[in-house]
Amino acid sequence: MYNRSMAKTKLGVLISGRGSNMKAIVAACQREEIPAEVALVVSNRASAPGLAWAGEQGIPTVVLSHREYATREGHDGAVVTALRGAGVEWVCLAGYMRLLSAYFVESYAGRILNIHPSLLPSFPGLDAQRQAWKYGVKVSGCTVHLVDAELDHGPIVVQRAVPVLEADDPETLAARILEQEHQAYAEALRRLLTEPWSLEGRRIRFGALEART
Ligand code: GRF
Repeated sequence: MYNRSMAKTKLGVLISGRGSNMKAIVAACQREEIPAEVALVVSNRASAPGLAWAGEQGIPTVVLSHREYATREGHDGAVVTALRGAGVEWVCLAGYMRLLSAYFVESYAGRILNIHPSLLPSFPGLDAQRQAWKYGVKVSGCTVHLVDAELDHGPIVVQRAVPVLEADDPETLAARILEQEHQAYAEALRRLLTEPWSLEGRRIRFGALEART
């Protein structure tokens, strides 16, 4: 558990579907593993199953369909306005199937996280678990990273390795990676919010600067 005197950081979680990573973040906040609370869940799809779950938990939710905006910037502008209105300080992408515009990335510069189901920089983009399985790698995993303007690209916060077993198919591999994703997202948030860290180029270094000499 973290030091209780720490102020709780307000998180905004963006989803498009199932929302199992969102649930893992909510649960880690409730268990007080992370000094944070989910202040708003945003979905670009009204039918996202995770949205209904969040509503049932009493977490504020909003649907902002990208189809109702002429441009990516227009949609992102509405999302950023909603996040700011809820006092959100850090943004967690959790299965949010939209590329962020430069406007969005700059609005929350250095405070947007994403989770990707491969060991980046291998297999960015869609269906990463199947890409890795088809390629024949013996180890895959997941990556939590800060978001920059490029897809699945920003500085890496946490990675977890998952062996690819002989009997695996893309679905069984994805299921084992997902278990690790849920832990990795909570770990990344905990470390970023409770430990000193700095960015050197694209390397995130944890620990106080004076302790590294
Ligand atoms: C996860 O595999 C995540 O890594 C990827 O999209 C999937 C979302 O799953 N970005 P869920 O909605 O969190 O269950």
